[in-house]
Amino acid sequence: MSANDYLLTQEYFRKMSQESGFQIETQQFAEYLQNIDELKYIRQEFHYPKNKTLHGVDLNIINGEDECIYLCGNSLGLCPKSLRSIIDEEITKWQECGVQGHHYGKRPWEHIDAFVIDQTAALVGAKPIEVVSMDSLTTNLHLLMVPFYRPTLSRHKILFEEGCFPSDRALIESQICFHGYDPKTSMLQAAPREGEYLLRTEDILQLIHEQGDSIALILFSGVQYKTGQYFDLKAITEAGHHKGCKVGFDLAHAVGNVELKLHDWNVDFAAWCTYKYLNAGPGSIGGLFIHERYAYEKDLKRFSGWWGVEFKERFHMDNNNLPLIPGARGFTLSNPCVLAVVSLFSSLEIFHKVGIEKIIKKQRLLTGYLEYLIKYKFGSDINNSSNHSGIFISIITPENLTSRGSQLSLAFSCNGTEIFSELQRRGVVCDFRQPNVMRVAPAPLYNSFVDVHKFVSILTEVVMLLKK
Ligand SMILES: Cc1ncc(COP(=O)(O)O)c(C=O)c1O
Repeated sequence: MSANDYLLTQEYFRKMSQESGFQIETQQFAEYLQNIDELKYIRQEFHYPKNKTLHGVDLNIINGEDECIYLCGNSLGLCPKSLRSIIDEEITKWQECGVQGHHYGKRPWEHIDAFVIDQTAALVGAKPIEVVSMDSLTTNLHLLMVPFYRPTLSRHKILFEEGCFPSDRALIESQICFHGYDPKTSMLQAAPREGEYLLRTEDILQLIHEQGDSIALILFSGVQYKTGQYFDLKAITEAGHHKGCKVGFDLAHAVGNVELKLHDWNVDFAAWCTYKYLNAGPGSIGGLFIHERYAYEKDLKRFSGWWGVEFKERFHMDNNNLPLIPGARGFTLSNPCVLAVVSLFSSLEIFHKVGIEKIIKKQRLLTGYLEYLIKYKFGSDINNSSNHSGIFISIITPENLTSRGSQLSLAFSCNGTEIFSELQRRGVVCDFRQPNVMRVAPAPLYNSFVDVHKFVSILTEVVMLLKK
């Protein structure tokens, strides 16, 4: 899609509006879009939370609505219905066979990590040798810094975003200190221009161009957690490599959400969690990517453990022969939690069945519809808005569909905290980040166009109520 995809999406809605005879902003139109949505059946594969089981919902004001409006897949994805039975299978095997479960059954535990490799590789645009599921995001980033952050007196800086997730900042600072450098001189932060929320690609590239000779590592997020901006990973990687820097990404908000081609873009490394758009459950197992070009590099600095050793040697317990598995699996240290791996497996099965292309296609329409309605109801453009509230909401996430995923981040012209808590009382689940940003993420696997429409209707009701 081109830079003007937003207009294409709007064009699509206009065409559908003509076909259906419904105005774009009406509930009938949302129902029409829902009916023609080829992925609508997938919602049934998830447990979708009910208003009566959520905390903080005022059942007297929700007009008998059974289901909540869950727009928080950017934080924690929903539970696949298949999860309970797959976990149950593993528990039963443990119950009935004990240690033999390592070697027998549908998924012998000694090979459990292999069951999620192909589907994970497909999601991040990698070869199977380049990915593995292990540990958790921050731990994996630290492990990846072992080979990829090798500071020297002349090249010791880490370039990252000023507004990065706090865990990444702590990681970067502690790595710099660990290597005996000073965070004040080794942390190089890319910040948006004065008065802007988003980082401009040209500014990132300029910084790399100017300071690249002293940068050891560029560590960016794929999709920015607060603004929803999807950075140009290919351009950042190219610019970094041109200057001799290593380039890695924190893909917490990108995996399962946007199209990734880590192998083709030549990214050195990446890590992600699986509890957001991948729906593998709270604290679920992390994943990492290391480009194939390092797969057979014998001298690559790294920490190792027995699980990274070739399978045929792993159980020989011969301490003189510990050949590591080539590629990402050679980075594994410990045997992974089987229950965590099968949770990921049950979720990846859904992604595999649907295909990431269809998911992204729907995502663009779903988030595009949210964008249309927010602009229509709360925009400041008097030609395209029916805003009578005196309260304006600006969308800080990029308009360009290739520079964002599911999430839209909304900034309010008034204090948004009260609006946010009134939304919670009405069964809306999204989140709020200080000072004044509400993150709203319709997830294409389980959210519908009607959810989006209901959300904007409730938001309108709340804004009008608070204005009084
Ligand atoms: C962008 C980003 N990075 C890092 C983390 C930390 O993840 P973990 O606790 O799994 O290490 C999160 C958690 O939400 C995140 O959103």
